[in-house]
Amino acid sequence: MDIQTEKILILDFGSQTTQLIARRIREQKVYCEVHPYHLALAEIKAMAPQGIVLSGGPKSVYDADSPKSDPGLFELGVPVLGICYGAQLMTSQFGGRVEHAVKREFGKADLEVLNTEGLFAGLEPDRAKYQVWMSHGDRIEELPPDFLVSAVSEHSPQAAIRHESKPLVGVQFHPEVAHTLIGNDVIRNFLFGMCHCSPKWTMQSFVDANIAAIREKVGKDRVICALSGGVDSSVVASLINKAIGKQLFCIYVDNGLMRSGETESVLRFFREKTDLNVINIDARDYFLKQLTGVSNPEKKRKIIGHGFIKIFEEEAKKIDSAKYLAQGTLYPDVIESVSFVGDTVIKSHHNVGGLPDIMKLKLIEPLRDLFKDEVRLLGLELGLPEEAIYRQPFPGPGLAIRIIGEITEKRLAIIRQADVIVLEEMKRAGLYRQTWQSFAVLLPIQTVGVMGDERTYEHVVALRCVDSLDAMTADWSKLPYDLLGRISNRIINEVCGVNRVVYDISSKPPGTIEWE
Ligand code: XMP
Repeated sequence: MDIQTEKILILDFGSQTTQLIARRIREQKVYCEVHPYHLALAEIKAMAPQGIVLSGGPKSVYDADSPKSDPGLFELGVPVLGICYGAQLMTSQFGGRVEHAVKREFGKADLEVLNTEGLFAGLEPDRAKYQVWMSHGDRIEELPPDFLVSAVSEHSPQAAIRHESKPLVGVQFHPEVAHTLIGNDVIRNFLFGMCHCSPKWTMQSFVDANIAAIREKVGKDRVICALSGGVDSSVVASLINKAIGKQLFCIYVDNGLMRSGETESVLRFFREKTDLNVINIDARDYFLKQLTGVSNPEKKRKIIGHGFIKIFEEEAKKIDSAKYLAQGTLYPDVIESVSFVGDTVIKSHHNVGGLPDIMKLKLIEPLRDLFKDEVRLLGLELGLPEEAIYRQPFPGPGLAIRIIGEITEKRLAIIRQADVIVLEEMKRAGLYRQTWQSFAVLLPIQTVGVMGDERTYEHVVALRCVDSLDAMTADWSKLPYDLLGRISNRIINEVCGVNRVVYDISSKPPGTIEWE
């Protein structure tokens, strides 16, 4: 069942900021979807979008192999906004000329608005200037027939264009980035002025529509869900629980690699605050045994991933007439974005992704239209506590990949205690939420120290705190020295077996966030 009646279609030409366009549109409470630029015209028609956005992209429209969407989309009578490459493509497909710019524009530029209708409605008249953000090596040299200029910049005589009579507009700058100070005005004007959308995409409407859709899909069957305590699985479980109550069975696997008190707090919340069916599988001994003597990071990941699937499968079989598996797949995992760069696997991430093939269950993925920040809003709407919603990401293989070398009970105890201190101090300093992740890593070396006149020869803990937007890239957090000092003092004083703390100042790339 299609629960989004009004939608904007974004065609992706490979820009770094395509997802940002989607977020900006959704911030205006309008639903949108990103699809590859080559989406067939018939599919576009079937989708019946209120408007279409053509994204930017790294190619030049005049290159023979440049990506092109079906020009038929301009004839649908649907408003189209071309952004950067999208505007150049519109120009070229209507018979205008795009060329390599002698003076390229990267970064901030002043946009002089000539026409305060359409995209620029509500802005100051009389050629007012506004800061925008540009990133282009090509520019529109000659307008196509029937097009007019609506804004210029120093190096772009056609910085914004519009069709005389059709709802087709293009901008050379990027309205989706924060440095374009009139970005939201431009997007709002497109959505509400040109496409006549209404701001109806709210979390309440999402919950209502999804509850109905899940009930219809599941009927009297049963659904199983792997509950990890992370935001995504907690939100999935809460949403489905609201829809079908006791027909949902959540399986929580305690692999012994969780942080201190984590299992207890997850189970307490769901058991005390909801009527969710939660089956707790204590698999601590199993995992620890499997991991005995294993130091290789990939081996650890494989053992944990396979172990999880095995246990989950065994438990799921015990639930009669389970037909569906609920997963917390998010929109960024779903978008079939156009990539002009090949992907290489650096680490085999452990997720529940491999399960359906093995188990022949049908999937329910209620979050597949949402971005992470939308999932958080949904969680709040569903009544999940803020601590659960705004927690930092925690990897599937848990503390196993934060203990470099072999995993033992003793080493797990050290990392757990250090982790508690890091999180406590980050929260006390008010930096927990704004930091993407902050955690301790136990190193497989010992160093010499001195404590109370005694020589010590003990472990080193590395502190890893990073800022990031999506974990694809990250930079080490520039934490205040006194906070670093407090964390270090507390770990050395309170965690037996540690006499040195070091701070990791590597970015990603070339480092990764986790050490293994
Ligand atoms: P890296 O270390 O690759 O981590 O820079 C990027 C983000 O992913 C998390 N991470 C994982 N998450 N299963 C997960 O669910 C995994 O196997 C896994 N490995 C890393 C990591 O914590 C960071 O947020």
